[in-house]
Amino acid sequence: MITHSSPAWEAGPPILALPLTGASEAGPVVPTVQSAAHVPVMAAEVLTALNPRDGGVYVDATFGGGGYTRAVLAAAGCRVWAIDRDPRAVGLAQELAASHDGRLQVVEGRFGDLEALLGERGVGTVDGIAFDLGVSSAHLDDASRGFSFRADGPLDMRMGSDGESAADLVNRLPESELARIIFELGEERRARRVAAALVAARLEAPVERTGRLAAVVRAVVPSSRDGIDPATRTFQALRMAVNDELGELRRGLAAAERLLAPGGRLAVVAFHSLEDRVVKEFLRQRAEVPPSPSRHLPLTPVAIKAPTFRLLERRPRVPQHAEIEANPRSRSAKLRVAERTTAPVPSIRS
Ligand SMILES: C[S@@+](CC[C@H](N)C(=O)[O-])C[C@H]1O[C@@H](n2cnc3c(N)ncnc32)[C@H](O)[C@@H]1O
Repeated sequence: MITHSSPAWEAGPPILALPLTGASEAGPVVPTVQSAAHVPVMAAEVLTALNPRDGGVYVDATFGGGGYTRAVLAAAGCRVWAIDRDPRAVGLAQELAASHDGRLQVVEGRFGDLEALLGERGVGTVDGIAFDLGVSSAHLDDASRGFSFRADGPLDMRMGSDGESAADLVNRLPESELARIIFELGEERRARRVAAALVAARLEAPVERTGRLAAVVRAVVPSSRDGIDPATRTFQALRMAVNDELGELRRGLAAAERLLAPGGRLAVVAFHSLEDRVVKEFLRQRAEVPPSPSRHLPLTPVAIKAPTFRLLERRPRVPQHAEIEANPRSRSAKLRVAERTTAPVPSIRS
């Protein structure tokens, strides 16, 4: 059980300087059968960051298996809005809601649309928002969802129920576009070679199974000494493209900025450098104190951009050793936390 021992973020455990693998969640951990429930990552730290209060309203923007939602509901007499784009996660959330006396509201949708999703339901401001990015164990461990290169399944990778699947992209996109996606979203140095191999493979027959995709990639990308499967980066890239994960993240963070009340907390858990870079850059910009205008410049009515967030710590938190041992999927997590200031969101954002 998660306990909320210390309400002050500052009173939490010290940052551990752990090496980060940078591997995706679909890295070296090897579950091939239907998993047990998703084990929430850094749940105690996220709870401390959100600091739920009686009467407060909180958003779990990525319900998944509901670890954060349960912890927040147990910590205070508050309300929680649980969001997920995956109808199966939403089904779980609805079961949980039934035993919480109206304190838990569930919405199926994308967190990139968070402001509209909550606005339509009469919610204009909230006291805390948590994002736990990426896929859940339920996704990775279910071969029929097509996220895993360890078990053969249809090449799908959609978290929700709409849009193009990974097979659609692999079989439709021009080689140059495939190479760009695999390079930019997978940080695969051999992206061009992988794209060429995929195009050659699809000329023989459409690539429609995860097993075939993994085999095509493994044939052209050598194994690395760290034991990470050569298919990891290509799978990550396709998953991120299929679900527009970085676009969703940018829109979700901007929505959080508009929704959080002064003093409200934002907690974001990212699992690889591309996601974390977006969060870090967003918070750096929003927490930055603008330089004072030069006294040599004429006074004009420029919009002054006061910081909309205050960083609670400059560096991200990472999981404790014990958590990584108990749940190896947590090993690449980074948690960033910030508090909304009273400054309004400028109408034009750079
Ligand atoms: C890492 S899991 C969250 C796990 C959760 N914190 C727990 O304790 O079980 C991420 C969840 O977010 C959902 N998700 C990912 N991107 C999303 C988006 N843009 N909008 C809504 N849900 C999203 C996924 O479907 C998945 O269920």
